[in-house]
Amino acid sequence: MTTILILFVFMNLDTILKTGHCTDTRDQVLSITPTTQKQVDILKNVSSHYETALWQPVSPEYIKEETQVHLFVPGNSSGIIKNLLRTHGITHEYAIYDWINRTTHDNPDTVKLILVGSSYEKRPLYALKLSLNNRPNKKAMWIDCGIHAREWVAPAFCLWFVHHSLSFYKVNKDITHILDNLDVYVLPVLNPDGYKYTWTKNRMWRKNRSQNNANNCIGVDLNRNFDANWCTEGASHDPCSEIYCGSFPESEPESQAVADFLRSNKDLVQLYLSIHSYSQMLLFPYSCTLEEAENHSDLLEMAQEAAQAIRRYYRNTYSYGPGGKTIYLAPGGSDDWAYNLGIKYSFTFELQDRGRYGFLLPTSHISRACNEALIAVKIIALKVIEKTQAATSSPQTV
Ligand code: ARG
Ligand code: ZN
Repeated sequence: MTTILILFVFMNLDTILKTGHCTDTRDQVLSITPTTQKQVDILKNVSSHYETALWQPVSPEYIKEETQVHLFVPGNSSGIIKNLLRTHGITHEYAIYDWINRTTHDNPDTVKLILVGSSYEKRPLYALKLSLNNRPNKKAMWIDCGIHAREWVAPAFCLWFVHHSLSFYKVNKDITHILDNLDVYVLPVLNPDGYKYTWTKNRMWRKNRSQNNANNCIGVDLNRNFDANWCTEGASHDPCSEIYCGSFPESEPESQAVADFLRSNKDLVQLYLSIHSYSQMLLFPYSCTLEEAENHSDLLEMAQEAAQAIRRYYRNTYSYGPGGKTIYLAPGGSDDWAYNLGIKYSFTFELQDRGRYGFLLPTSHISRACNEALIAVKIIALKVIEKTQAATSSPQTV
């Protein structure tokens, strides 16, 4: 599972969406790591003699042992190619878009695919809606991951969370209670263009990949592009900066898509979560000012309980507090924006680690990072249910 989780490969889902087909005739991108020279030769042969497109490396002669190959395989040749690989003992894996599609397909009654928008380079932004029952007036929570490209454990968390939720519904008490009372929207990769770029060109890329006409610098920090004290202290107007706020609030298709979705669903969504790495922190508004949020003590108590649980169960330390005071002023963030929209429970999690590996968290640490973050998600979601349900079920004075 973990290998799938951290795997990037993009595939063209447009055809599937248009036709509704989701069989083996679809286009796929396979991720293959040859382990012997013989496998290298076979892959070279396949990529140059069959109807495929080699995405990585740039040309077949660069295929080598122990290095990942990304091969686009059109639907009509997928059967032949996979057979060929199987015959030679070459295993392949799928990618995030493929995973999203498969999960939706395998859980038709409980998971819906929602296209919330598309990225600057026109990749689809898919959210999965987990809806395990049809209670009337059911509220929802939102989780997005991967707003910053290089924070690879974040998309891994989103996928793992979906998988875990579906597997443990009716098994684990907390998960069941959460999913019985809230629908969950999960957007695994908010910044797919940046994410792809970190796999192919620059592992340390943070921003999206939008072009700026004025100069050569590329990308906007999507977590500085929301309309919350936009581009004040803690963000930059310089397009070359890592914290460039863009030319105006929501100038970027990715932030606009998320903002549009939340605006249209603001009465439903009671909890907003945004997953980042690294530094092990549970942050809440405000980051765009040093002022306290109106329900500061509620948020603080929730974050504290979550951090204590992580410490108790995993012996790991998470700091917590309002973003501005806990780390730095950072205006234009999605959490503050969602909060001001009226989603009064709004958090940004910074997952493992504290800097030893930083953004390059090894695969072997992903599972623990996800498990400890899950504890925090559970505690916070349960509290939100408790607080908001108490509010709605209290007797009305007429
Ligand atoms: N490290 C994150 C960032 O710089 C912190 C996010 C906290 N929230 C915020 N609105 N800045 O984007
Ligand atoms: Zn981040």
